[in-house]
Amino acid sequence: TFVVTESCIRCKYTDCVEVCPVDCFYEGPNFLVIHPDECIDCALCEPECPVNAIYSEDEVPADQEDFIELNAELAESWPNINERIDPPADADEWKDVKEKRDQLDR
Ligand code: SF4
Ligand code: F3S
Repeated sequence: TFVVTESCIRCKYTDCVEVCPVDCFYEGPNFLVIHPDECIDCALCEPECPVNAIYSEDEVPADQEDFIELNAELAESWPNINERIDPPADADEWKDVKEKRDQLDR
């Protein structure tokens, strides 16, 4: 499966959603996750993310490994998203911020 990591928080550009052939993205207030049981490992979304937030599960950086479980957990409670939407108005101000776990809204 593929995993959305910290860089997506408060950026949520949703370019990834547009290319997913199985519509397995789920949307929270300021972050997206991938449902691990629905992702078919096509890898199409990975290069689409402007902030490189998406990794294959086996390539997730060590300091981002908690996002593997977080994607699985949040995909169960958040609604599906299958179309690109406008990012938050201040998304660009957050795209270079590295540590933003504390900004995640559930
Ligand atoms: Fe969707 Fe493919 Fe990305 Fe999995 S790897 S989330 S199936 S686009
Ligand atoms: Fe997030 Fe990147 Fe998709 S910022 S919404 S993972 S395009």
